[in-house]
Amino acid sequence: MSAQPAFEIALETQAEDAAREPLLERLARTEPGPHLTVVVPTRNERDNIIPLYNLICATLTGRNWEMMVVDDDSADGTAEVVRWLAQHDRRVRLLSRVGRRGLASAFVEGVQASTAPYVAVIDADLQHDETLLPRMLQLLEDEPIDIVVGSRYVDHGGIGDWDQGRARISAMATQLGRKLLRVPVNDPMSGFFMIRREAFAGAMLNLSSIGFKILIDLFASSPQPLRARELPFEFRTRHSGESKFDTMIGIEYLMLLADKLIGHIVPVRFLMFAAIGASGLVTHLAVLWAGLNLLSLPFAAAQASATLIAMVGNFALNNVLTYRDRRLTGWKFVSGLVSFCAICGIGAIANVGIASILFAGHALWWVAGLAGAAMSVVWNYAVTSALTWRQKGG
Ligand code: GDD
Ligand code: MN
Repeated sequence: MSAQPAFEIALETQAEDAAREPLLERLARTEPGPHLTVVVPTRNERDNIIPLYNLICATLTGRNWEMMVVDDDSADGTAEVVRWLAQHDRRVRLLSRVGRRGLASAFVEGVQASTAPYVAVIDADLQHDETLLPRMLQLLEDEPIDIVVGSRYVDHGGIGDWDQGRARISAMATQLGRKLLRVPVNDPMSGFFMIRREAFAGAMLNLSSIGFKILIDLFASSPQPLRARELPFEFRTRHSGESKFDTMIGIEYLMLLADKLIGHIVPVRFLMFAAIGASGLVTHLAVLWAGLNLLSLPFAAAQASATLIAMVGNFALNNVLTYRDRRLTGWKFVSGLVSFCAICGIGAIANVGIASILFAGHALWWVAGLAGAAMSVVWNYAVTSALTWRQKGG
C-alpha cells in the first residue's frame, strides 16, 4: 500500500476498534486495484471491442490492468457489448457519457474515473500497436520519465495506409503544433501514449480538452515540462467501422492551439462566437442587398428576412463550431434555435438602448454603435452558453 503514511491515523483508529477486523489484515486478503488503466474512447466501435480486449489480454498477461471504455452514447450498441464483457471480466469497465462528445474529454474523464498509478489511451479500432503497452509501462516504472508516446514520426514508425491528403494535413498540423507550443516529441498528434498519474494530475487543471488532440494539450498544460520518451509504431488499418476524422477536427485543432496561446486572456469560445457574430453582419447585409435589388422587396421585409437568415445562420454555425462538443440535434436543435433567437433579441434591444443613451450623451456615432454591439455580444455569449448550449450535469 503506497499511500499508507497519509492514512496512519485512520488505520490506528480502525485497529483499536476490537469489534472490527483490523483494516490492514482485511486488505491483505483483498485483490488490489489496477496498476494500469487503459482508456479506450469509443464512438460506434461495437465490432472492435472484443478483438481489442483479446489483444490487450494477450499483451498484458501477468500485469494488473483494467480497460476503461469511455463511450459517447454510440448508436450501434458499443456500450452493450462492453457491459456484457464487463459482466464476465471485472477488468473491463464502462464509462457511458451522454450529452458530451470528444476524444480528448473522454480520455480525461476515463483517467479521472480510475485509480491506477499509470494510465494509457488507445484507439478502439486496432490502429495502434497494443504490443507497446508492456514496454511503455516498464519504462515508466524503471525510469524518471512522465510519459511514453507511441510515435509514427520516428525511425521504424509509420503512418500506414493513409492517403496523401491525410498524410499532408497530419504533417502540417504536427509542425504547426510543435512550433507554436514547443512540444518536445516528434508526434504530438499521436492518440496513443501512457502517462504517470501525477504528471496527468499536474496538467489536468490547465487542460483545454477541446476536440481530438489530448497529447499536445497535456504537453502545453503541464506546469513542469513533461519528460517524454517515444516508441515507434506503424499505424495500422482500421479494423471495423468508420473514422470520425473530418474537417471539423481541423477547426477544433486550431481552436485548441488558440486556446493554449491566448486562452488565459480571453476564452477561445468567446472569440469564435464573436467572429461568427461578425460574419453574421456580412450575411445580413448581403441578404438585405439581395432582397432590395434582386427581389425588389420593401425595405422592412428585406431587413426582416436578413435578420432571420443571419440569426439562423449564426445559430447553426455556433452549433457546429463553438459548441461542437455540446451540439444540438433533432428537436433540441429547434428549441435551441428558438432560445438563441429570443436571447439575441433581448441582446439587440439592450444594444440599441445603450447605444442611444451614449449617443444622446454626445458620444461619437461609431463609439456609441460599437459600445452597443460589444454589450450585446457579451450578453449573447454569456446567456446562450448558459441556456441554449447548457452543459448537461453542470
Ligand atoms: N468517446 C469518444 N468520443 N470517442 C471518440 C470520439 C468522441 O467524440 N471521436 C472519436 N472517438 C474514438 C473512436 O471511436 C476511436 O476509438 C478513437 O477515438 C479514434 O478515432 P478515429 O475516428 O479512429 O480517429 P483516427 O483514426 O482518424 O485518428 C487517430 O489517429 C490520429 C493520428 O494519430 C486518433 O488516434 C487521433 O487521436 C490521432 O491524432
Ligand atoms: Mn482510427
